[in-house]
Amino acid sequence: MKKLAVLVSGTGSLLEAMVKAELPIAYVATDRMCRGFEIGTLAYIETDIISRSFGNDFDRAAYTVKVRDRLRAKGIECIALAGFMTTFSADMFRCYEGLILNTHPSLLPAFPGAHAVRDALAYGVQWTGCTIHLVTEKLDHGLILAQQPVHVKPDDTESVLHERIKDVERALYPRVIRERIAA
Ligand code: GRF
Repeated sequence: MKKLAVLVSGTGSLLEAMVKAELPIAYVATDRMCRGFEIGTLAYIETDIISRSFGNDFDRAAYTVKVRDRLRAKGIECIALAGFMTTFSADMFRCYEGLILNTHPSLLPAFPGAHAVRDALAYGVQWTGCTIHLVTEKLDHGLILAQQPVHVKPDDTESVLHERIKDVERALYPRVIRERIAA
């Protein structure tokens, strides 16, 4: 079984679902102080903040190497992004190609990017959903591993719809990760 790390930036509800699903998470890292950090710590998982600048001086390549080297030092073999909001430069994919998973709150290739739920609502689609995919340097373009549709209701707001999509992600993502770390 591959040694699994989870990277988080936000509320960590997907990380919480992975903990509840008893995934063998060896390491959690966040790029900022966030609730995900608390969830990892409270679950007795080794959890670090690998902090970054959010200013114009942010050096993506240097940060990528810092995170990659930390993961390598921990012996990590598979990485699950769970609302991790920093994109990596090529150095990460040279080392972990085909070994980084993400879940995105739309049916890719529709609505890539940081505002997938808002964009789907603005477009007026009746169905959206989530996509579990491999992460590549090109954002939201890696191989699709699983998808599940979610119906858009006429009175949906962005947050209400996103929460319904996350309900689906919290069930589907741990299952896909379990398969990948066993492969
Ligand atoms: C999920 O909707 C996922 O698709 C996106 O970030 C969200 C993370 O949710 N990449 P949470 O922070 O774990 O609640």
